[in-house]
Amino acid sequence: MRLRNVKGAKEMLEANPLVIQDINDKKGQWKDIFGNNKPIYIEIGMGKGQFILEMARRNPDKNFIGIEKYSSVLVRAIEKCEDFTGDNLRFICMNAESITDVFDTHEVSGIYLNFSDPWPKERHIKRRLTYRGFWERYNQILNPEGQVIFKTDNRPLFDFSLEEAAAAHWTLEDVSFDLHNSPQAEGNVMTEYEAKFSSLGNPIHRLIASR
Ligand SMILES: C[S@@+](CC[C@H](N)C(=O)[O-])C[C@H]1O[C@@H](n2cnc3c(N)ncnc32)[C@H](O)[C@@H]1O
Repeated sequence: MRLRNVKGAKEMLEANPLVIQDINDKKGQWKDIFGNNKPIYIEIGMGKGQFILEMARRNPDKNFIGIEKYSSVLVRAIEKCEDFTGDNLRFICMNAESITDVFDTHEVSGIYLNFSDPWPKERHIKRRLTYRGFWERYNQILNPEGQVIFKTDNRPLFDFSLEEAAAAHWTLEDVSFDLHNSPQAEGNVMTEYEAKFSSLGNPIHRLIASR
């Protein structure tokens, strides 16, 4: 997702206390940033933020960080937070390729990947957030009990992700090819893309992986 350039987006993000700046100094510091020891969950490629905001609302005992590479998209998420009164949500504007520069070993308790860009061309395979190079990064930053939870309606990307997780030695704890019509749907929080594609009748796939 790339929205047309939003005028003043960068300045708006710099001025917003929910958006963490100078992220390369923050490795190992995230508990201090939140000011507590609650576990930290991240969503990579959060888009306009519906999922992470709802997760933060429902789970005040956990901390959440939404990660998005485009400032023009992140501002839309920030706008949604106007009425949010919790203290358990922050945002980062970055490309997740350098995620291990921002989070320390085992600093994260869970990773959500929702409707990640498919990058269908073979020459772009390394950009897919479920490419094995990303599973290796997740292996570093995720604590040993942590899980990666990935949802998509894109079957080729889902099949690719199952193979890549296995190749990177992750264990698939749960796999659903039609999440919304399965018992595992209980408690599922919908993303913007999930609402859009499921309303078109597309089945939603989900995998949960651990080590
Ligand atoms: C298809 S959208 C899905 C948005 C949202 N997760 C949802 O389900 O509605 C994918 C988002 O991931 C972001 N993204 C893709 N690759 C990324 C990366 N390497 N680092 C950070 N964000 C990324 C894109 O900019 C886009 O906003």
